[in-house]
Amino acid sequence: MLLPALPLLKKARAKKYAVPAFNINNLEILKAVIEAAIAMKSPVIVQTSEGAIEYAGMDYLIAMACVAAEAPIPVVLHLDHGKDLKVIRQAIRSGYTSIMFDGSALPYEKNVVMTKRVVGWAHAKKISVEAELGVLTGIEDLVNVDARDAALTNPDQAAAFVEATGCDSLAVAIGTSHGAYKFQGKTHLDIQRLKEIAARVTIPLVLHGASGVLEDVTKLAEHYGASLGRARGVLDQDIQTAIQCGVAKVNIDTDLRIAFTAGIRKAVADLPKAIDPRKLLEPANDLMTQVAKRKMKLFGSAGKA
Ligand code: G3H
Ligand code: 13P
Ligand code: ZN
Repeated sequence: MLLPALPLLKKARAKKYAVPAFNINNLEILKAVIEAAIAMKSPVIVQTSEGAIEYAGMDYLIAMACVAAEAPIPVVLHLDHGKDLKVIRQAIRSGYTSIMFDGSALPYEKNVVMTKRVVGWAHAKKISVEAELGVLTGIEDLVNVDARDAALTNPDQAAAFVEATGCDSLAVAIGTSHGAYKFQGKTHLDIQRLKEIAARVTIPLVLHGASGVLEDVTKLAEHYGASLGRARGVLDQDIQTAIQCGVAKVNIDTDLRIAFTAGIRKAVADLPKAIDPRKLLEPANDLMTQVAKRKMKLFGSAGKA
């Protein structure tokens, strides 16, 4: 059975580890993530963006996640970056056990009003809500202190936001961004800001844009023809520090995408005669499983199922 997210996240924050949340778009990614979670005895959140729902169909994704939840580990199905109220309501009705409302691009007051509304709908079905405050952007892009303060999560505002909305977990902006190109120069997170948020906000905190752009996997993809230029992710050490400071859910999409790409490219190059999609997907599946296992070790969720 798919489980609610909140008890897992509360426990993770209390025990200073993080539950990995992987974006899934198809059966291959889902199976890789679940295989890793079983092997590592880790709880796992599988999450689908609105783009994933558009690609695969919500019914298919829910059906696959329900099968995955028969595994002997806790599995949550979460809506990632829910913005479209129709999709959010459908997810709440149809079996998702956790919802994100992403009002981060809205003015503060509007974000409060909309988040509160979604919290009302979700709580009526005993589903928890992740909200977001602040803009996910690399610190290097914020040229001065004012720009940084305007974009990143303000600790006092975060406390007021949680109080006003009743959200269950909070995604914070501390210098990470989505995708493979997070930093131009030195990778850097605003850990001091995270500490100040964690001192005022006791609900589980969520780190988006947390992929590390793993050097070996990226090199493998490039060896087989990918062009990833100056791709750069978050340092493992920064992830661990963030978890010690209150982050209880860490979102990973890009690292699985790179693993998938590397595996597919390798198979196509190594097996010119293969036309069986299963053969061509095998290395990608293996690589994604390996990457998911590495994340579970890094986040401290291994052995916590
Ligand atoms: O938040 C971004 C995730 O990586 C999902 O990306 O909207 O392309 O599925 P997507
Ligand atoms: P990455 O792009 O760093 O994997 O972040 C994924 C994410 O935050 C999904 O919500
Ligand atoms: Zn995200």
